[in-house]
Amino acid sequence: MTQDDLKKAVAKAALDYITPRLNDDSVIGVGTGSTANFFIDLLADIKTSFDGAVASSDATAQRLKSHGIPVYELTNVHELEFYIDGADEINERLEMIKGGGAALTREKIVAEVAKTFICIADESKQVGILGQFPLPVEVIPMARSHVGREIVRLGGDPQYREGVTTDNGNIIIDIHNMDLSRPIKVEERLNHVVGTVTNGLFARRPADLLLLGTKEGVRSIPRKGV
Ligand code: A5P
Repeated sequence: MTQDDLKKAVAKAALDYITPRLNDDSVIGVGTGSTANFFIDLLADIKTSFDGAVASSDATAQRLKSHGIPVYELTNVHELEFYIDGADEINERLEMIKGGGAALTREKIVAEVAKTFICIADESKQVGILGQFPLPVEVIPMARSHVGREIVRLGGDPQYREGVTTDNGNIIIDIHNMDLSRPIKVEERLNHVVGTVTNGLFARRPADLLLLGTKEGVRSIPRKGV
């Protein structure tokens, strides 16, 4: 079984989870990345059972539209029942690192608004402690050096992601070797660094349900206390 097979399996599991819970007025939040792409392609099969989608990136909006799925601006949407997205890393509290595809800001906004965040991921994304994957931060271009210095002060190694401009016109700095054993604390500290737009720690608002693709099948792991 390949990694893509596992991604397809969790995309299908997410579709099966949401389908009976949708109605004609439902708008679905859709994430970014290869796992989310498998989900979008499956969503096309049930496009008459819901109203439309909110996209977390221009690439996702394009893919949704190519399937004839209506795409709405988040600001015009009254209620978002589900947000379905992948992750770069996820721990047992369903806290995540996201932003490998540079879409972290819109992803975090859509996740914040959605009632239920379903993370779809293959088992390679499950970790004990976050931080093997470099933590992306979206930064206003003029603040690049300042933010880099602040990251060093906080104990991380900043690395400018060459050649990447986000959908919002900003840059990405990836943080290596940072202690993320207390993700909420780090997320909040980075939120206070002037010039950052968003950091890729999704700990204050973790996922509610993880659908994890394993060779033995898809495991459904709700967040403890949900
Ligand atoms: C996009 O910015 C990320 O947050 C993605 O959700 C993450 O990189 C997962 O992508 P894959 O599904 O391609 O691994």
